[in-house]
Amino acid sequence: MSKLAIKGGPPVRTEGWPDWPICDEREETAVLEVLRSGKWWYGEKVKAFEEAFAAFQDAAFGVSCTSGTAALKIGLLACGVGAGDEVIVPPYTFVATAAAPLLVNAVPVFADVDLDTANLNPTAVEAAITPRTKAIMPVHFAGLPADMDALGAIARRHNLAIVEDACHAWGTKWQGKGAGALGDCGGFSFQMSKNLTAGEGGILLADDEETAERARSYSNFGRMVDKAFYDHYLLGDNLRMTEMQAAILLAQLTRLEEQTARRHERATLLSRELEQTPGLALMRDDERARPRAWHLYMFRFLPEQWDGVTREQFLEAMRAEGIPVGSGYPAPLYKNPMFLHQATGPDGCPVSCPYYSGEMDYTAVCCPNTERLCEEICWLAQSALLAEEEAMEDVGRAVVKVWERREELAREK
Ligand SMILES: Cc1ncc(COP(=O)(O)O)c(C=O)c1O
Repeated sequence: MSKLAIKGGPPVRTEGWPDWPICDEREETAVLEVLRSGKWWYGEKVKAFEEAFAAFQDAAFGVSCTSGTAALKIGLLACGVGAGDEVIVPPYTFVATAAAPLLVNAVPVFADVDLDTANLNPTAVEAAITPRTKAIMPVHFAGLPADMDALGAIARRHNLAIVEDACHAWGTKWQGKGAGALGDCGGFSFQMSKNLTAGEGGILLADDEETAERARSYSNFGRMVDKAFYDHYLLGDNLRMTEMQAAILLAQLTRLEEQTARRHERATLLSRELEQTPGLALMRDDERARPRAWHLYMFRFLPEQWDGVTREQFLEAMRAEGIPVGSGYPAPLYKNPMFLHQATGPDGCPVSCPYYSGEMDYTAVCCPNTERLCEEICWLAQSALLAEEEAMEDVGRAVVKVWERREELAREK
């Protein structure tokens, strides 16, 4: 086998990887149409996208908005979550999952995830419930749904709302029903790295009409359906999607099913490649999740098997071989300065707030699986899964090459 590319040898892969986002004349025509129509605001395209995406995910209602974070916020508000309430969230996720409860004056409580899915562990969720718990916010991490059967049963037992963070789960179904329509409501992101994108944007899905109407009102200055334009019933924000964004999303949606299937095929192939290589642990897939989105392809680097090579050395060597693999979140969310310093509102609210009767000290939180994932996870972005089949074989070949020459890397330290 040739010299490692990081040591000056030829890389396993010299071809590039697919660009993201993908667009063609569908987006161009759609945006031009909106531009020329003179109707840029909250009209036909937004309505059409809301209906199309809600139907795509099997939900009765869709409330579009400016971001995934905004969707989670209006979802929590619509479920009655506010000051004094606790929301159970995973710590292995993007900060928005925990920021959304704080932004509605509620307190996020971290429960650990499973090592082989990075999704909320139902036993840890149940252990985190207190009399103040109002909701659970499971993330369908990387596109694989959290165990919604188990979480749904816990929520029913304790009378809790489920607001799904479905910001990685466009096109995912769980036992035949779409993500975002599995709990009380669910939020999606259309930020640029996402599998369905308009640069920015979000949507909240719900089956219950009242929940959807409340969410809509919070996104639109507290206005209510069939009421006067200048009558405001709730303290709402301006979180509305534009017609341009909706036009782009409608065009993007025409490709989503095909892309989702292709990513799944590539991920399956990649798993077949990687399960033959030592030194790594694959994540668990779940037959209950079909189809499933792949926002990331993840695997764990098992440091104890690499004779002193670190994950960072492995990743650097892989990148030199032409494989765009990264390390993900460097630390659990609760180790971010905003949590370590209880840094929320200017006066400490909502964590140190007269409305909150609990005691939250994020410096005392420890979720061992999340800590381990932060040290071991390696991931490829969704766009890499749109590459040709041979690219997956290249990933496998690169891992084998780095593994077989690991001693050269270990000597460097
Ligand atoms: C899991 C998760 N939740 C929430 C968000 C927030 O979405 P947005 O960036 O659209 O606000 C993101 C995205 O970046 C995310 O990855």
